[in-house]
Amino acid sequence: MLANYKILTVTHKLTQLREIGDFVVKAEDGDELKSRLEEIRDQFQLDELLYLPTCNRVMYFFITGQSITPSFIARFFQSVNPGLPAETLRHLEDVVQCLEGEAALEHLLDVSASIDSLVIGERQILRQLRESFGQCWKWGLSGDFIRLAFQQAVVAAKAVYSNTRIGEKPVSVVSLAIQQLMKANLNRHARILLIGAGQTNQLVGKFLLKHAFSNVTVFNRTLGKAGQLAGMLKGKAQLLDSLPAYTEGFDCLIVCTGATNAVITPELYAALLQGDKSQKVVIDLAVPHNVSEAVVEDNDVNYIEVEGLRQLAKANLAFREQEIEEARNILKEYLKEFPALHKQRQIELAMRRVPTEIKAVKHKAINEVFRKEVEMLDGEARELMERMMAYMEKKCIGIPMKAAREAVLAGK
Ligand SMILES: NC(=O)c1ccc[n+]([C@@H]2O[C@H](COP(=O)([O-])OP(=O)(O)OC[C@H]3O[C@@H](n4cnc5c(N)ncnc54)[C@H](OP(=O)(O)O)[C@@H]3O)[C@@H](O)[C@H]2O)c1
Repeated sequence: MLANYKILTVTHKLTQLREIGDFVVKAEDGDELKSRLEEIRDQFQLDELLYLPTCNRVMYFFITGQSITPSFIARFFQSVNPGLPAETLRHLEDVVQCLEGEAALEHLLDVSASIDSLVIGERQILRQLRESFGQCWKWGLSGDFIRLAFQQAVVAAKAVYSNTRIGEKPVSVVSLAIQQLMKANLNRHARILLIGAGQTNQLVGKFLLKHAFSNVTVFNRTLGKAGQLAGMLKGKAQLLDSLPAYTEGFDCLIVCTGATNAVITPELYAALLQGDKSQKVVIDLAVPHNVSEAVVEDNDVNYIEVEGLRQLAKANLAFREQEIEEARNILKEYLKEFPALHKQRQIELAMRRVPTEIKAVKHKAINEVFRKEVEMLDGEARELMERMMAYMEKKCIGIPMKAAREAVLAGK
């Protein structure tokens, strides 16, 4: 029954991202996670379970005939996290979404097509869903009915990604910065100075590598991290303190450190120019800015900075949001197909008994009901009878299966 599909989920829509952690199964490794999920399945008598934690949601998708009452939800999350704050427990209904039957399936499809994501159209969710399902299937937590819903969700999501523009236009500030950099038409051997080696610049580094920039020097407060990033880029690493003494010139400066004052002062910038008057690309991704305003005002720079990029990101997100309606129309078609797929699977499972039962009937006919008559047959007649019985057995197995399939198709 479709009504047995249930979801309990906590997402970015109803709570702060950092609070989602309270609803996640805490486990040191895969083995511990597996046994914790098995405990939850057994404790709440779930027939099947799929567990999906991501950075903007945690979802428990399960099959059960039980009704999901507020007390079930409270016991469920106390079991997931015995240390759940009392205040959170009192207001669970404000944070936890509970979905059943078609609404649960619709939510699964929305999640897989990333129209429920924080960043609409990000495809990463589909990979995360595949991985979660693969793991839960391997662990014997997810079974046939979750598999059926998962497969339909994947097919539907692919249709959305390929028939809408929901995944178009990058929305991360770093990817937009690189897009702007590419517009500057620097050649692959342009001299790039990367100032800072934190997470943001590591991401910048991945894009530089992807676009095959081959002349990157990384400056950082600590040399170790600069070395790691430079290693990835086959570039050079230097201490930030040595930047004022750097005399090799540059074409592009990408600055992003946690410093709260200007790292690139007018004096430092003038020293780095080494008298070169041509236009430079300067990218400042730090908040607050790391490049002094006077540098931008007094020099010929193609300046790319975080606030402008944020506005671009918002505009791009708005563009993706326009595609949501089209995505919903596509998902609706896949949702409509699901009851028939589900019914067919139920029939197939019920039909698994048919071959064994027909064999048993044959056995009883030969060895009990018609035993005396069969014993009177000569060898040739007996062989013919057995061949006919085997033929009938084979045909009889196919008939109900075919009829059931036709009935499902007719009821579609
Ligand atoms: N534009 C965006 O999308 C975006 C996204 C996230 C963050 N940010 C901004 O980017 C900056 C860095 O963020 P992150 O996530 O990359 O940080 P992170 O991973 O913590 O790295 C910080 C980097 O800044 C260096 N640093 C910290 N304090 C410094 C100081 N006083 N002087 C010189 N260097 C210093 C660190 O050097 P060590 O290695 O020596 O510690 C490290 O390289 C912040 O301003 C943040 O607001 C921007």
